[in-house]
Amino acid sequence: MSGKSIRVSGHGLKVPRRRAEDIRRRLLRLDLLDRDLKPIQLGEHVVFPLKSAKRIEEVVGDANFEIILCEFEPRRLKPRSLREALRGRIPDELLEYVPSSYDLIGDLILVEIPDELKEYSKIIGEALLKLHPRARSVLSRGKTVGEYRVRLVEVIAGSEDTETIYREHGCVYKLDLRKVFFNPRLSGERLRVASLVKPGEGVLDMFAGVGTFSILIARRCSGCSVTAIELNPDAYGYLVENIRLNGVEDIVKPVRGDAREILREVEDEYDRVIMDLPHSSLDFLDVGLRVCKPEGVIHFYGAAESVEQLEERVFERSRSLGYAVEVEHRREVMEIAPRRFTFVLDLRRLS
Ligand SMILES: C[S@@+](CC[C@H](N)C(=O)[O-])C[C@H]1O[C@@H](n2cnc3c(N)ncnc32)[C@H](O)[C@@H]1O
Repeated sequence: MSGKSIRVSGHGLKVPRRRAEDIRRRLLRLDLLDRDLKPIQLGEHVVFPLKSAKRIEEVVGDANFEIILCEFEPRRLKPRSLREALRGRIPDELLEYVPSSYDLIGDLILVEIPDELKEYSKIIGEALLKLHPRARSVLSRGKTVGEYRVRLVEVIAGSEDTETIYREHGCVYKLDLRKVFFNPRLSGERLRVASLVKPGEGVLDMFAGVGTFSILIARRCSGCSVTAIELNPDAYGYLVENIRLNGVEDIVKPVRGDAREILREVEDEYDRVIMDLPHSSLDFLDVGLRVCKPEGVIHFYGAAESVEQLEERVFERSRSLGYAVEVEHRREVMEIAPRRFTFVLDLRRLS
């Protein structure tokens, strides 16, 4: 981009400086002032940029004024979108690839940068920091990998410190996006599940992460008890800290380790089981069914191409394990890849 400032030519109303404020107000009231352009100071006069020169007599009455053609400088208005902020900073033909959405997680911004824009990552990150002055870092979002389901992220602008405090439904969660799984887009799903929990229920969160389901349930439900299991030592550390930060130490019991191992000796104990490990939850369905009371509910998150495909797999697996289940609710939670989705099935264990 050249350093030369852009000028816009248009009609302006030249008025004596001493009357300027009064006239500016009248122009505004009549919606005649072009607020995207800056007024010009001309010695003892001010020139206001006009949207239209009609009805100008109503503004100035019998005072001395002049309508002149001028070159106005545009005001630096805050861009309304990332695409707008990047106009002129990346080639025009790449603007269509600029992401239209990104996640604000505490004071971090998580954005998926398409391959076409990879070389402009830093510029995109800086533009996002300008758009969101309270954000501290911008991270590019990669794949979710491994047993701990942690996203591969890279800081593209701002501080390298990726720990933050995120607020959701009145709860606070401390977390480090480089070390733990976290997805703010599941916030509606967490609220849905928490609002189904009845007073006094015993809840098991088999794959608890930093505690988002467990803590919300504990904060909303009276007389409940929640067991939260987590394998990733970093996520477990945050789970323990978040339980304390939200004052639910008496309700949520954190347990560190592999859910299968921890629940080895448990039978029919929980009214409600949350199984949020979509890529491999089917491998744990035997455990979930065994620890769920008859007539209890399992919130089962699974990845598949269609909800019918997931249901079929769940029914087949349950049958082969000797259980009967009924689907009380089913819905797509999010798209995770082309033609691959995470779905939730609310399963009632019948026998
Ligand atoms: C998809 S995340 C869900 C986290 C949480 N429900 C949330 O919404 O933030 C799955 C979590 O299960 C943990 N995990 C994976 N395998 C596990 C296992 N065998 N036992 C217990 N936790 C496990 C991962 O470390 C990860 O934190």
